[in-house]
Amino acid sequence: MSREKLIEMALNNKKHSDAGTMEYVDNILEIPAANYYDADIWQKEVDLIFKRTPLVLGVSKEIPNPGDYKSIDALGVPVLITRDSDGNLNAYLNACRHRGAALVENGIGNKKRFGCPYHGWTYGEDGSLIGIASPEDFGSIDKACKSLVRLPVLEKAGIIWVILTPDSKVDMEKFLFGYDELLGMFNLSDWHVFSTRVLKGPNWKVAYDGYLDLYHLPVLHSETFGKDISNQANPYEWGPHQRVSSPFMFIPSTEGEDIIPDYDKINEWPLDDLMGGVWTIFPNVSIASFMGGGRAVLLSQLMPGDNPDESYTTQYYLMENKPNKQQEEEANKQFDFLEYVVRDEDYTTGIRLQKGLKTGMIDNVMFGKNEGAGQTFHGWVDKIINTSDEDLPNLYKE
Ligand code: FES
Ligand SMILES: [Fe+2]
Repeated sequence: MSREKLIEMALNNKKHSDAGTMEYVDNILEIPAANYYDADIWQKEVDLIFKRTPLVLGVSKEIPNPGDYKSIDALGVPVLITRDSDGNLNAYLNACRHRGAALVENGIGNKKRFGCPYHGWTYGEDGSLIGIASPEDFGSIDKACKSLVRLPVLEKAGIIWVILTPDSKVDMEKFLFGYDELLGMFNLSDWHVFSTRVLKGPNWKVAYDGYLDLYHLPVLHSETFGKDISNQANPYEWGPHQRVSSPFMFIPSTEGEDIIPDYDKINEWPLDDLMGGVWTIFPNVSIASFMGGGRAVLLSQLMPGDNPDESYTTQYYLMENKPNKQQEEEANKQFDFLEYVVRDEDYTTGIRLQKGLKTGMIDNVMFGKNEGAGQTFHGWVDKIINTSDEDLPNLYKE
């Protein structure tokens, strides 16, 4: 089913490529420039989008074994993701029910029980409070009511989603609109986490616009990706999630020249030849394929920083196979290149761009008929901000 969908998209890309066209939307969209710098709007995005929407907080391969855990801060919320003895994931607020201390430092590790470093209370892998230090001195409490605070978690396609609201009614599977089936074609659950890096960037939407936008490629990235790369894009949607794919199909090759594939044999194409383009996961993730050191993807996860002017992007370089020494060098070279492109071209431009917008002298910014993916993204941002907690689960229905 998913392979058929991938072939359908490849053939649609070819149709446009042959005709010199792309998937246009009907109109140019104008949105207020203030959407990129206004503190109240930004706070709404943090509270109503990021705190209510399933967020990618990691990949399965970071914590593959029973007892593995990952602890991170997401928008100031300390989150502990654990894999229990049955291989299932749990997510908790990383805060002890005694007086709130973090149970573990941020990072990745393996534990069956979590002992609080402050006064020594302990929690089991199911989050239950199993031990109180000096209980005879402390006094009697109902331990069953003092488990760690649970957060909704979902693992699909080798990717981990968490909602930062404990009692969220959002159905995380519905939120994916079947997109996880397509993402599953990458088979990331078996891939190797080669390395991760963190980059500081501009406003999260300024930064994210760039991932949905192929229009800028031959201009802003003329020195890195080259002037000949296409600036056209066909967006494909699954709810708020979008794949943005060039009409001009080519397959990245380790041997230098990219390969133009044979469409008469499309049914025989290896799967990875069908997975090109940028796969975005709303509201803040992109996945794109590269060949440095072997088949790889760069998964980029963007988080708003402490104010409207900054964001932080965690880049995961994931590889299909564990690299040997030489492949490691090539992978590092590829990762250096991608870090350079994002930091020195995309984000440097974004940081300067937002200075211009913040003057208030420009009322609106525009997304052309050729920038449908950006239009769809901003449409969902508005839609979610304007939806009550009660109605939110209804947004994610086919
Ligand atoms: S805060 Fe955890 S035991 Fe006291
Ligand atoms: Fe870019």
